[in-house]
Amino acid sequence: MVVGSGGREHALVETLAASTLEPEMHAAPGNPAISRIARTVDIPADDLVALRDYAKENEIDLTVVGPESPLIGGITEAFWEADLKVFGPSRAAARIEGSKVFAKELMRHAGVPTARYEAFDTEAAALAYLRAHRDYPAVVKADGAAAGKGVTVAHSRDEAEEAVRASFGGRFGAAGERIVIEECLEGREASIFVVTDGQDILPFLPAQDYKRAYDADEGPNTGGMGSYSPLMWMEPATYAAILEEIIRPTIRQMALIGAPYTGLLYAGVMVTETGPKALEFNCRFGDPETQVILPRLGSDLLELMLAANNEDLAGREVVWSADKAVCVVLASEGYPESSSTGDEITGLENIPAGVYIYHAATEERDGRFYTAGGRVLNVVGTGPTVIEARARAYAAVEQIYFEGMHYRTDIALEAIELEDF
Ligand code: AMP
Ligand code: GLY
Repeated sequence: MVVGSGGREHALVETLAASTLEPEMHAAPGNPAISRIARTVDIPADDLVALRDYAKENEIDLTVVGPESPLIGGITEAFWEADLKVFGPSRAAARIEGSKVFAKELMRHAGVPTARYEAFDTEAAALAYLRAHRDYPAVVKADGAAAGKGVTVAHSRDEAEEAVRASFGGRFGAAGERIVIEECLEGREASIFVVTDGQDILPFLPAQDYKRAYDADEGPNTGGMGSYSPLMWMEPATYAAILEEIIRPTIRQMALIGAPYTGLLYAGVMVTETGPKALEFNCRFGDPETQVILPRLGSDLLELMLAANNEDLAGREVVWSADKAVCVVLASEGYPESSSTGDEITGLENIPAGVYIYHAATEERDGRFYTAGGRVLNVVGTGPTVIEARARAYAAVEQIYFEGMHYRTDIALEAIELEDF
């Protein structure tokens, strides 16, 4: 069973369904496209009790959790108590995403390279720190999960003070009652995923996410407007350093403090002039990075997840196709500030080979699809080169239409320049 309802979950369900173990797939709540491959049940991702009861009644062998909030809320423990298996960390381990202060302290103890920081639990202390602080930009982060809106890169003391006041003033609820103020790092950002059983790791290929709403990284932050993988600009030595200096020490430290991390660990990394540094950790697959990683996975994802659950990852390897993948997110009018819904989507038929359409927020009525949220569809093109993968993605985008549809036109553009022909 896959928990969640977006494009990430659509990609997970599709990949798991293709396993040679021939699983009977369930999804909660899923979406119209997922319901074509899995039995969907209308239980929200946060209703841990109903999910547990459903899993018990239907003898679900493994539950894979897409979004962070059920993990931070303790779905794993709730399932364990009922003798059910979950691919995902315990509540104690999910604090790595649920609390930035926890993650920063963990990194400090583990010697993981990251931005220098201070943590504050009162507005007065944070403002006093800013009065003595001269280095801008500075990054102000709400401690808890704030739906991707808790981070401000402040270019002046005024902006930083405003972010501090907003956080302690309740903009993010309890998530903002503590904050981290940290050094702003410069470089290229990458998303690194590893599957882990608490000790051994299976690294996936890195991906890049585009967080800003408009071309050339203009406009507000979003959940992600596109992605590509692998990353031609990342040297193998840099990738190895990320695994050895960031991922492994973090997983060792989690075990050491009695909260072994199992499932998928996602590190947001900035590759700086002085080497890779960790920006943040997430306790789940990234969205939309998953959509460019899973189509290229040659190994059996379900087997890997079961092996992680049985602490049996040692000696395994992940196999990849040589293809590249590019994902373009089609968003509805107003996103990210708002989103319009109920617009009919056309052009979803006759999608060419090498293109995957993942549904992120759609609704189906009488055989027609309608928009149902901000990020509506993920259009993924694959091919032997980034040029081809990208051309396939954008050709499919041209064929799809809904009122108010907008998307970035520069996804993976810089990757083409770096591609080795
Ligand atoms: P986070 O939720 O911590 O990943 O932050 C969201 C985004 O803010 C990151 O993906 C980065 O683009 C940016 N960011 C976070 N921390 C820093 C930092 N220390 N320096 C520069 N950019 C950052
Ligand atoms: N794409 C960013 C995230 O999943 O957090």
